[in-house]
Amino acid sequence: MTKTSISSSQDAIDLENQYGAHNYHPLPVVLSRGEGVYLWDVEGKRYFDFLSAYSAVNQGHCHPKIIQALCEQAQKLTLTSRAFYNDVLGEYERYITQYFGYDRVLPMNTGVEGGETANKLCRKWAYKVKGVPSNQAKILFAQNNFWGRTLAAVSSSTDPVARNDFGPYMPGYEIIPYNDLEALAKALEDPNVAGFMVEPIQGEAGVVVPDKGYLRQAYEMCKAKNVLFIADEVQTGLARTGKMLACDYEGFQPDILILGKALSGGVFPVSAVLARDEIMLTIKPGEHGSTYGGNPLACKVAIAALEVLKEENLADNAYQLGELFRERMQALIAKSDLITLVRGKGLLNAIVINDSATSDTAWRLCLALKDNGLLAKPTHGNIIRFAPPLVMTKAQLLECSDIIEQTVLAFVR
Ligand SMILES: Cc1ncc(COP(=O)(O)O)c(C=O)c1O
Repeated sequence: MTKTSISSSQDAIDLENQYGAHNYHPLPVVLSRGEGVYLWDVEGKRYFDFLSAYSAVNQGHCHPKIIQALCEQAQKLTLTSRAFYNDVLGEYERYITQYFGYDRVLPMNTGVEGGETANKLCRKWAYKVKGVPSNQAKILFAQNNFWGRTLAAVSSSTDPVARNDFGPYMPGYEIIPYNDLEALAKALEDPNVAGFMVEPIQGEAGVVVPDKGYLRQAYEMCKAKNVLFIADEVQTGLARTGKMLACDYEGFQPDILILGKALSGGVFPVSAVLARDEIMLTIKPGEHGSTYGGNPLACKVAIAALEVLKEENLADNAYQLGELFRERMQALIAKSDLITLVRGKGLLNAIVINDSATSDTAWRLCLALKDNGLLAKPTHGNIIRFAPPLVMTKAQLLECSDIIEQTVLAFVR
């Protein structure tokens, strides 16, 4: 008999298993409600969210101001396409460019579309401004980068799981080691290099933080060679790492900035690419776009989401709670040999489990954390990312640290 409604978590899991593509491996928890730092499952059990939908929910679940902006605009006008002007896009474009100090913005939807847009802008700039011979432009990427799953993204990926059996791959990409200025210097000798696209902290790779000064130095080296520094701040941006942008730690402005995820506070996909005139104006009508990009609903939601970050001082909160969290995890490392390392900035952190990347220890630890009321997910086998919403209070963070500590200390391998 066909089921008409979901009455238990198992029902929902069964439906997804039966009718959905198997392109994810979720933790077995079925969520039906979210508010602030909390999520509730179908059975009514409450959890601390320690993933924030991969840093899309920095402002907390269903933030009232963002939801209000969504509801008000949803009743007026949701989509016109860019075939016509709408009365919100210009206001949003002014707001976000002034917010981040850029001349112009190109609005898209998902993070990976932001990355695609940045790649296209970089190539166009290479031919129109830098003078790279036709079809010869190269973009540098770092090993273990992650910017999504499109063919361009997997073409620049070094992860066999993301790449295998999806060839042929897009040419024009060169991979260099992350956090390696010598390798960058060598790659920059090629005059056809037009851009270096990099995450200020590699999120999916396991919250890999480069050495202090790496980003700034890389930016200076790119500048000296007339190469665009493209910052993929889709995961690190928007207060997550304790500053509005992770690049702010090193006091420079990327030539191209890609934002996504928390730009809508987790409401729906909104991404943006910011650049100065010289770069952005190389793209002419018809050369790039998206039906939904810049829709009035997204514009209103993004303005509200950006306002919340400032009004609630979420970067400062992330900075302070991050320091506290890593202190607590360091203390835990001293008590348990299950964890070897904690790393991160602000509230983008990860612990490394003392086991091989192919073991299921991190997965089982996440199951135990779930049972104890905290949701997190392993990345790359033996690493667990911890990234709660930035609206968390100090008392909540301490409670979560207690849950993690108790779970780790009680864990049987
Ligand atoms: C750094 C980075 N860039 C881009 C993306 C892609 O974003 P989306 O999944 O919204 O396409 C991600 C997603 O995790 C990311 O972490």
